[in-house]
Parts: sequence; structure tokens; C-alpha cells
Amino acid sequence: PDNITVQELANRMAVRGAEVVKTLMRSGVMATINQAIDADTAELVVAEFGQKVKRVSDADVEEGIEGIVDQAGDLRPRAPVVTVMGHVDHGKTSLLDALRESNVVKGEAGGITQHIGAYRVDIGHGMPVAFIDTPGHAAFTSMRARGASVTDVVVLVVAADDGVMPQTVEAIRHAKAAGVPIVVAINKMDKPEANPERVKTELLNHEVVVEDYGGEVLAVPVSAVARTGIDKLIEALQLQAELLDLKANPERDAQGTIVEAELDRGRGAVATVLVQNGTLKVGDIVIAGAQWGRVRALVDDRGAPVEQAGPSTPVEILGLDGVPEPGDKLWVVDNEKRARDVAEYRQRKKREQSQLGAAAARGTTLEDMF
Ligand code: GTP
Ligand code: MG
Repeated sequence: PDNITVQELANRMAVRGAEVVKTLMRSGVMATINQAIDADTAELVVAEFGQKVKRVSDADVEEGIEGIVDQAGDLRPRAPVVTVMGHVDHGKTSLLDALRESNVVKGEAGGITQHIGAYRVDIGHGMPVAFIDTPGHAAFTSMRARGASVTDVVVLVVAADDGVMPQTVEAIRHAKAAGVPIVVAINKMDKPEANPERVKTELLNHEVVVEDYGGEVLAVPVSAVARTGIDKLIEALQLQAELLDLKANPERDAQGTIVEAELDRGRGAVATVLVQNGTLKVGDIVIAGAQWGRVRALVDDRGAPVEQAGPSTPVEILGLDGVPEPGDKLWVVDNEKRARDVAEYRQRKKREQSQLGAAAARGTTLEDMF
């Protein structure tokens, strides 16, 4: 498990790769620069070069990063995180528009959602909901899988004129795999061809049993465009959320998940994080996957700067030294040195893993040697 490529070992000792290859040969180990050797062999080589070895394990570096365990008394109710899923063009973004009374669709290139949008919407009764809009494009399957893992409830959008389609089925699979309850929004009810009964029977084939058929899944006919049924959908979401009895500790250091990230020409690395527990504040030192940074600014879903973001809140964060990956966990840490150490360690591990992967793919045949 603790393997290292000859090249990486050479890099860390600040010697030429060929020197390491030669030293290995003298000890009877035939390895090319791209091959992996085990930790014991590496240690011998390091000793040959008169350098000291320090083996660092995950446990040493990562210890304490995940922070404290919350006491029951510190937990407060939190807003549900709802992911909107469904087949391409079935109306996910339009439905979100209807829910937040704005117009996201019109601003999108070609009307196709290119990345995960995240919004916080007050749906009345003092209950905000964090919504995540996932791309309907098949190429974004893995992002959608990640969406489901930060989600408390999935709103499955099915167009009443089109019925259950491949990505509807995929969304059902993700929700079931994550153990997340589904609320079905049967959309486009304003269309003359709308056939909600067909949608319900088709869902049966995928073990989604709606109330009409004796099941527990709530299905609400809506029209995102005509803005009908939206109140009923909100009621269904509130009902579902109450059943889940969701809690978090707003007083602790923040913990969250990156839902999207990019390099912005003007602003540097920009990541949207969904805060899941605790409160994220400007000035916090964070580690997000293999990146770290001091939070320079927080921007809410409407583009306004904010000083802090509590549980179930999506915010953009500025100040990371690099672009994390969607699905990466974010933690607040005590000091910069610690953050930098962990980030460097994770970057090195990532690099090694890709090198080892490449080395394994090449195999270790004699032909490699000559
Ligand atoms: P992707 O993000 O590309 O997967 O699509 P989406 O599921 O977000 O669908 P989007 O909201 O972009 O809507 C696709 C098309 O369906 C647009 O032309 C919408 O105007 C239309 N549409 C959405 N909801 C309704 C509805 O309730 N009724 C009618 N008639 N059209 C709708
Ligand atoms: Mg969309």
C-alpha cells in the first residue's frame, strides 16, 4: 500500500532519478523511473543517499481535521437540503425558478444547466430550503451522484408529457442508493398531452410507489411555467422535512461539501460550498480536499457578500489557493500551517496515486527496462 515511484522518491530527496535507478540496481532491484517500489526498499535507498527517512501516515496528518463530535444539547433544527433531479428538459431549473420566483433559465447558455446551482429559498412558514439544481446532461452523472449524498430530499421532476426517461431512472437509483426520500413533481401539467397517470404507473416499474397506489411517495402535479401546484409541492416538502427532523450545531466550526468550483479570471479559485454543520465565517482557515485557504469573502446565492453562513446554506467562498473538486469535504482548521501541511500531504498523495496508477497500467515487464 505504501508504494512510491522512483521519480517521486528522487524528487523528495532532491537527487536525479537516474541516480536512484542506479542505486536500486546495485541492490539488485531493477526498476525504471516510472515504476513503484515499496516503502522498505525506498527506506534503504534513502539511507544509501545518507538521508533521513520520516514515514508519515494518514493518521498523523489527518488527525483532528474532522473536528469535534456534537453534543445532543447543541443541536438545533436546520433547513432541509433538496436536490432537484430528473431527465433533461423535464423542467428542473424552471421549477426552481418557480420556487424562488426568479429567472435562472433565461440566463443559461442554450437553456441547459452547466453546473450545479445552489440556492436558498424561503418557502414560507419561516422555513428556508437549500435547493441544488443538477445538470440534466448524461455526462454529469457523477456530479449528480455527489448531489444525492449531500441531500436530505430529492425532488424528482418528471414531465407529464414525456414520462419516465433514462435519467429519471438514474436519479431514482441515486436517491435509493443514498437512502434519500423522493418527492415527485409531475411537471408540465399545462400541456394538453400531459398524462400524470402514465407517469405514476411508469414509476411503479421502478419501485417508486406513489400514494394513489398505496405507497408513501408524495407526487404533486405542477406546472413550472404556469406556476400551478407550487404551493402543494412546498407543502409536500415541508411534510417530508418534518419527518426527517434535521438538526445541526450552528455554534461549531463549519463543515461542508464543495458542490462546484472553478478558476475565475478576476477572483481566483471560487468554490460553492454547502455548509452542512457549524457556521463558516470570513477569515476562517479552511481545508477543502487538497486545497486550503483563508476565507477572503463569502458570497450568497444572490451575489451579495455575507459575513457568515450557517448550516444548510450554500455560499461561494473566495480565498482558496487552488480549485477543489465537487464532492470534496471542507473543514475549518486552527491555523495556516496545519492547513498547508494537510493540503500539501493530500496533493502529494494525489500525485503519487496518479503516478502509481500510471505505473501499474504500464506493468513491470522487462521490455520496460530497455
Ligand atoms: P436541463 O437542465 O437541461 O436538464 O433542463 P431542465 O430540466 O432544467 O429543464 P428547463 O427548466 O430548462 O426546461 C426545459 C424546457 O421545458 C424549457 O423550454 C421550459 O420552458 C420548458 N418547461 C419547463 N417547465 C414547463 C412547464 O411546466 N410547462 C411547459 N409547457 N413547459 C415547461
Ligand atoms: Mg436545468
